[in-house]
Amino acid sequence: MYSSKISGLGYYVPENVVTNNDLTQWMDTSDEWIQERTGIKERRWIDPKTGDTTSSMGAKAATIAIERAGLTNNDIDFIIFATLSPDMYFPGGGVRVQDLLGMPTIGALDIRNQCSGFIYSLSVADQFIKTGMYKNILVIGSENHSGGLERSTRGRGVTVIFGDGAGAAVLSRSEEKGKGILSSHLHSEGKHAKELALEGPATGRWVDAIMKDNDPDDVSYYPYMNGQFVFKHAVVRFSEAIMEGLEANKLKKEDIDMLIPHQANLRIAQFIQKKFQLSDDKVYNNIQKYGNTTAASVIIALTEAWEKGKINDGDLVVLAAFGSGFTWGSVVIKW
Ligand code: UT7
Repeated sequence: MYSSKISGLGYYVPENVVTNNDLTQWMDTSDEWIQERTGIKERRWIDPKTGDTTSSMGAKAATIAIERAGLTNNDIDFIIFATLSPDMYFPGGGVRVQDLLGMPTIGALDIRNQCSGFIYSLSVADQFIKTGMYKNILVIGSENHSGGLERSTRGRGVTVIFGDGAGAAVLSRSEEKGKGILSSHLHSEGKHAKELALEGPATGRWVDAIMKDNDPDDVSYYPYMNGQFVFKHAVVRFSEAIMEGLEANKLKKEDIDMLIPHQANLRIAQFIQKKFQLSDDKVYNNIQKYGNTTAASVIIALTEAWEKGKINDGDLVVLAAFGSGFTWGSVVIKW
């Protein structure tokens, strides 16, 4: 069995900054409410004039990650692309990246696991590398939320939270034992699927059904979130996933050098930080600048933390996420 290590990281966010105050042009909300409940100050929303899309942002992040890995597009053996906001209903974003980056006809897999999409993707990539099937896998998380949010007071409970952006990692084969991805842990609980979901259009509620009823209150084509319900489950599942990762490797919470939690809500991250008694320099948050970028959030935060020199050789890095599905999980890395 080989080991797999992250050999390159990159991220891309649209230039267009939308502050909390900017949102008041569309809805009854305030900077005070948003900051107090979520920690968010601003987020990036694609300016449609730029032509940015979920897959093009993923490709931009990937280009940086591949270059930093010291590789070229031709060295990549496989693409894994996580998103809940693909450019098209089908096909997914992976094949778009293969085309945009002019890669050979390598395989491309799309992962539909929302906020834990990057955790799931990294875990899948890890298995392919460890068994020797592939040497270098491009793992991308990218979201274009702004194109599908309801910009009105009715939608404010969801709309103020989400932002656009993409992150990418190259996962590479390594012969160094005891380094790289030590373990990954994945979970789901589908009975809560509707607590955080976008129901239509999809085959369960197709376009003609939505149009036939012509009901102005039918907003099943916008995301719905039962915020407090999700919050309560998130704090429990985050903690479990982190503990599971530590215990699987016979580690203690004191061994954590850097925790990168999915950026869902600063209050959730602060709760976890307190629970695991981690000092401020051992948890990285950037939700203040980007909001919740779902499948992109962990990889953007990981890349930023690494760029700022907060992750160094030999550090124990724990990634954890929870979200729609419900799905959740963790990845433990010895850097
Ligand atoms: O990434 C996937 C996982 N997602 C999460 O983990 C998210 C978890 N949930 C949360 O982060 C929080 O539940 C939210 C930030 C989404 C909401 O915060 P909350 O403290 O749970 O607020 P709430 O939904 O209970 O709403 C409280 C009040 C309501 O008004 P009333 O009924 O008390 O009069 C809402 O209508 O706040 C109102 N409200 C707003 N007011 C101003 C909801 N959204 C807004 C808003 N601006 N944007």
